[in-house]
Amino acid sequence: MKPLIVINFKTYAESTGANAVRLATAASKVAEDSGVTMVVVPQAADIFQVAREVDIPVYAQHIDGIQFGGYTGHILPEALAEAGARGTLINHSERRLELAEIDAANQAAKRANLATIICTNNVSTTKAAASLCPDFVAIEPPELIGSGIPVSKANPEVVTGAVAAAMGVKVLCGAGISKGEDVKAAIELGTQGVLLASGVTKAADPEAALRGLVAFV
Ligand code: G3P
Repeated sequence: MKPLIVINFKTYAESTGANAVRLATAASKVAEDSGVTMVVVPQAADIFQVAREVDIPVYAQHIDGIQFGGYTGHILPEALAEAGARGTLINHSERRLELAEIDAANQAAKRANLATIICTNNVSTTKAAASLCPDFVAIEPPELIGSGIPVSKANPEVVTGAVAAAMGVKVLCGAGISKGEDVKAAIELGTQGVLLASGVTKAADPEAALRGLVAFV
């Protein structure tokens, strides 16, 4: 099985604005050469220009569970879809929501035909998130985010526990993923792929880092 690789651009300088377009273009090239699906997740302000430049799926980092109307400062799923987004993260560790808000965001995304990845921090929240029927749940222990220590090696039990708790909903794992062997380990633990950020966005040569991720595919 070929893994799904989701690259969260966060708010790093290296993946903002023109750099977001450059990074997405590199991901698109590696996706085409390897046959692996790569999803890029730039900031909301960069979605339109990134989606104009690449054919790979572009997801948002967050949406709000709102509809058209008076919601100043919120992120409307329909606006993201029109800007070119094809999906969204919900409840990332750096953008936590209450359960009711996660549910509303998931339903609002579906209304706008956006795929959803609900992020979770432990097995119990994975179970709750899976019950909302997103397209994916992602398990990311917060203490390993940005650490360079891959969850697939440091805490394989949380990954297998999440796969069991997800009741058939597809699972991604993230935190500290940076190498092809981390991706391979994630697949062996029963996930569909990985969600990662700094291993690519902060790499000296992001395209080489992306090629490394698919080395064992
Ligand atoms: O969304 C992915 C993320 O939180 C993991 O970050 O830098 O450990 O790959 P990183």
